[in-house]
Amino acid sequence: MTKQIPRLALFPATTELNQKGHLTIGGFDTVALATEFGTPLYVFDETGLRNKCREFKQEFGKRYARTTVVYASKAFLNKAIAGILKEEGIWLDAVSAGEFSIARAAGFPMQQVYFHGNNKSAEELYLAIEWGIGHIVVDNFQEMAVLNELAGKLRVRPSILLRLTPNIDAHTHRFLSTGVTDSKFGFPLSYGGEAVSKALASPNVNLVGLHCHIGSSIFEVQPFLDAVDNMLKFAVEMKQKYSFELQQLDIGGGFALQYVVDNPAPPVAAYAEAITSRMAAKCKELKLNPPELLIEPGRSMVGQSGVALYTVGAIKEVPGVRTFACVDGGMGDNIRPAIYDAKYEAVAANKVSENDTQKVTIAGKYCESGDILIRDIDLPEITAGDIIAIPSCGAYCIPMASNYNASLKPAIVMVKDGQARLIRRRETYKDLVSTDFV
Ligand code: LLP
Repeated sequence: MTKQIPRLALFPATTELNQKGHLTIGGFDTVALATEFGTPLYVFDETGLRNKCREFKQEFGKRYARTTVVYASKAFLNKAIAGILKEEGIWLDAVSAGEFSIARAAGFPMQQVYFHGNNKSAEELYLAIEWGIGHIVVDNFQEMAVLNELAGKLRVRPSILLRLTPNIDAHTHRFLSTGVTDSKFGFPLSYGGEAVSKALASPNVNLVGLHCHIGSSIFEVQPFLDAVDNMLKFAVEMKQKYSFELQQLDIGGGFALQYVVDNPAPPVAAYAEAITSRMAAKCKELKLNPPELLIEPGRSMVGQSGVALYTVGAIKEVPGVRTFACVDGGMGDNIRPAIYDAKYEAVAANKVSENDTQKVTIAGKYCESGDILIRDIDLPEITAGDIIAIPSCGAYCIPMASNYNASLKPAIVMVKDGQARLIRRRETYKDLVSTDFV
């Protein structure tokens, strides 16, 4: 029908056009959503999110039965999301006491939480033990010593994994690459042996496994296979040296999400097939009992379910240069274009079936020249009041939002079967001063 149609594939699977030519998600007209809840508005498609949880569980589980899907909650967590994950049987990776406190407030079982972080405070470790967090992923020697002492005092023996950097370049943005030796995360493999021996000699921790996370937004499967190889090879060395039995291998997250039409991401099944068959083959080759496999998808789990809606205000034509369509959000709710040069697509939600007639640059409203959401995108004639919908906004937008320019963080709604419910209200001006003293 129009040039914009390929972009619709990036939106949640429930996305349709209604008779008015408006974009609908989960059976709800997005233009009506913008009117009812205001913009900027983040819309999450519950069906899409639940289906993605099931897809991860099924695609990995049917190939490697002992797989646990541990959602990386840094991608986006609030009470409603935690409730859905709990219902879908997905576990949680939390990287701070803040994250696991949200899960706890939602009644998420703390036993199903993995606690990560390269600089966990003693207070966070205490809370993790006190609240019965299932596993702690130890990042460094100092943490191991603090945890061992704390656990001794509290007379508990937490299960731990060791985070290792398996020396793999995941070919992603340099800010998103974490598997290389020059990384602030984890023990380099060269110190891995010492870490295992220290953990085994620490009476108050129970070493059950190894963890790595090689990076984020990884569009190839090969780096994951290299990670599996290096980690299992290391596990065999540790078995021979210290009789260490690998019960759990956590290979982290990093599975890609499609943001733009011309850069498709491999389907979950492709990652699952490659990783699980390599696990089985390598364990056989190394004569290792196949451990439980853990994966930690974040972006790929929630990314496609989330759509950002903005209202166009000022339109500025700089003759011979470009046309800016300024929206009522920007880097305050989505910092990703500014810091990673992240690319997005968009449609005019109230004009989806109209033909593209102009190139526009979608600019935010913040006092920062770098506050550009999308540079030079083909859209229909854009006028003030149009609703811009940006797909693939479910991950790392809301959690990285700021109050820059004393802006109000957006509202979030969950849609399903033509119903919309607020899962986070928009901030108010009162909120902005609620923690201040004079
Ligand atoms: N596990 C660990 C230990 C991690 O550090 C991360 C992400 C994940 C899992 C999930 O990775 P994912 O599946 O979402 O790629 N703010 C950046 C992303 C930072 C990712 C940090 N760690 C962005 O907006 O792209």
